Amino acid sequence: MGPRRPDGYHEVTTILQAVALYDDITATSVPPESLSGPEGAGPVFTDEDPIAVTVGVAGEGARPATSDDADGAGDGPGDTGAEPSVSVVPTGKDNLAVRAAYLVAEAAGIRGEAVHLTLSKGIPVAAGMAGGSADAAAALLACDTLWGAGLDRETLVALAAKLGSDVPFPLTGGTALGTGRGEQLTDVLGRGEYHWVFALADGGLSTPAVYGEFDRLSEGRLRTGPTPADAALSALRSGDPAELGAALVNDLQPAALRLRPSLRRVLESGLELGAIGAIVSGSGPTCAFLARDAAASVSLAASLAGMGVARAVRRAHGPVAGARVIPADPAG
Ligand code: C5P
Repeated sequence: MGPRRPDGYHEVTTILQAVALYDDITATSVPPESLSGPEGAGPVFTDEDPIAVTVGVAGEGARPATSDDADGAGDGPGDTGAEPSVSVVPTGKDNLAVRAAYLVAEAAGIRGEAVHLTLSKGIPVAAGMAGGSADAAAALLACDTLWGAGLDRETLVALAAKLGSDVPFPLTGGTALGTGRGEQLTDVLGRGEYHWVFALADGGLSTPAVYGEFDRLSEGRLRTGPTPADAALSALRSGDPAELGAALVNDLQPAALRLRPSLRRVLESGLELGAIGAIVSGSGPTCAFLARDAAASVSLAASLAGMGVARAVRRAHGPVAGARVIPADPAG
């Protein structure tokens, strides 16, 4: 992590890996008059709002499986914990998926369309697991397809970067090296499959607050640029989970631990229970543990849940592909 840039962001070198936790975003064209506007009539399309967007949010497990691999709710056995409440997901313009729809409309010159977005959440909400970013990436693809906008990949990636530093990645998935503010991606040619266990915490941690704490902690220390990720990249090339586990490092972790000291116990518990790597995921508060293999991840998840140090525990393997369009079932 480098120092704060003049635009307020930090220069990062980060490795991102997509794991098998999925949300389904359904974009449906609706008759504009069915959406209620200010006087209960249809929505008013203005220069500022050339389209109308409504959002519905469905909870974990509410969605049907889309394939054997992509069951949406992690890797199954070993998952525990109460369903996170989807009521905290915003349904207005502060939902990144809504803003994604507006950006596609603007870029493609779409006007007078009304769209309903259904977000079926399999990714834990308010956990710092980039679920909002994944929904935004999916909404870009879904609206582009729905309106036949035909935006090219480069444009979609640029729109994603406008929405947030973490939005371009779920468009591509896999494993990538992120630079800049995290939005400039290069594919990492790695091998192997990795079995992760995620310990979810109660309540969220604000990303700007964690970056702010990082600034306070690093004050006075000369930082010229982000820490290189060479050890993790070489581990990914070797495909050896133990090597990757030993190479896991997150410069934001001390800041997240300062703001949420209880996470230290969570990380220690995972390591005591046999995890080969433990790290705060992104800006937290979710902690990610790497297990030796699939079987080890099942027992690690069960033991972690048994210790009661986490709100819920999820297992998921990676890397997996990014967002893809599932055409509507003509019969359905
Ligand atoms: O890009 P995004 O909107 O997700 O960033 C949220 C906040 O996280 C930013 O406003 C900034 O405070 C912080 N951030 C940062 N450096 C980054 C990415 C995010 O300081 N590379």
